[in-house]
Amino acid sequence: MEPQKPHVLFVDDEKGILATLRRLFHEEDWELYFATSAEEGLRILKKESMDLVVSDVRMPGMNGIVFLNEVKKNYPRIVRIFLSGYADHKAVTKAFADGCAQQLLPKPWDDNELRQVIKGALRQAMKQQEKFQGLQQAINSITALPPMPQTYIKVKEYLADPDGFSVDQVAKVIDQDISLSAEMIRWANSALFGQRQGVESVQRALVVLGSDIVEGLILAHSVFKPADDKAVPGFSRREFHTHSMACGITAKKLMELRGMRESEFVDRAFTAGLLHDIGKLVEEVCLTAAFEEIVGLACDQQGTMEQAEQEKLGTTHEEIGSYLAEWWSMPSFIVNAIRWHHTPSLCNTDREIIDSVHMADVLVQRFALGQSGNHCPPVMDPACQARWALTLEQLASLREEVVKTLP
Ligand SMILES: [Fe+2]
Ligand SMILES: [Fe+2]
Repeated sequence: MEPQKPHVLFVDDEKGILATLRRLFHEEDWELYFATSAEEGLRILKKESMDLVVSDVRMPGMNGIVFLNEVKKNYPRIVRIFLSGYADHKAVTKAFADGCAQQLLPKPWDDNELRQVIKGALRQAMKQQEKFQGLQQAINSITALPPMPQTYIKVKEYLADPDGFSVDQVAKVIDQDISLSAEMIRWANSALFGQRQGVESVQRALVVLGSDIVEGLILAHSVFKPADDKAVPGFSRREFHTHSMACGITAKKLMELRGMRESEFVDRAFTAGLLHDIGKLVEEVCLTAAFEEIVGLACDQQGTMEQAEQEKLGTTHEEIGSYLAEWWSMPSFIVNAIRWHHTPSLCNTDREIIDSVHMADVLVQRFALGQSGNHCPPVMDPACQARWALTLEQLASLREEVVKTLP
């Protein structure tokens, strides 16, 4: 198949500027589109798939900031560039800082600079699309993504409404699922949450655990249910569950080692650690044949799952898992931890949580707790390692603590 030509859309209300841009880029092997208003630009985007959008800021009707924000919301894969005159400087700088566009070009511009910036942005866009294609193909070949667990939906509804929220209501929902109730009570009694024992009801467990942990445990409970009929040879759900739990526990302990006390960090690290590899379960359940080959390939090559996934699917469990997490509207710290748990330094938000999950993931494999499907030791991100600077003694005692806490 021939590679697709890059598609670029220019939006400016001044026809003269559009004509200049057309002249500047007409020799490139690109499909060029031009719109004299943001509204027209949005109409084009509905019909044509685009890689890059360059927009003026000041235009009658919808302005460029509102327009690029729309593009960002509805077509997040398109790279966005502002063309802005001096008069709009303040508003544009703020919009730029808010992530409305990835590049900012002055008006009037220098032709060479404009060419270089646009070409660079386009290269970036094409790389992004290429990466996305693998994920898109994998997702397209899934007839139905797993539905969001009903218990999670109900509990989320209660938690989202602080006026109508009562622990009893949430407990009633959880009580309907006996194994989930038992699991909540078990975790609430664990030393990990400061209790030695004595929690006997779901109500009390909810208070001890707090909403972040409760949400995470409900999600984990539904996704880690043993796959009854179709066990994939070489991939043990039980071992994988242990890997995930150990990762959640280790991430939480790492946060505590760092002196973090706020549940916003500590509890979230636990939940994110627990769920970091759910992409593998999506593969196991929804792409079973490919997953069998991936498990086999990782074993034959003595490599990691993500290397084998890249070879077989053109995407990885990080991308597939974060896609599902977004689909299920999980909180963004979970989406980010799933997406970046192997490459934490590439993400600038939720840094502590993602770092802790990354290190926990590497450490539990070194500690030989559970099995994640890898057949070689994963590498710790050097920048992350430097940020945390853990000593060997700290690591040694960490293993002991995690083993003690594992159910
Ligand atoms: Fe992973
Ligand atoms: Fe993992």
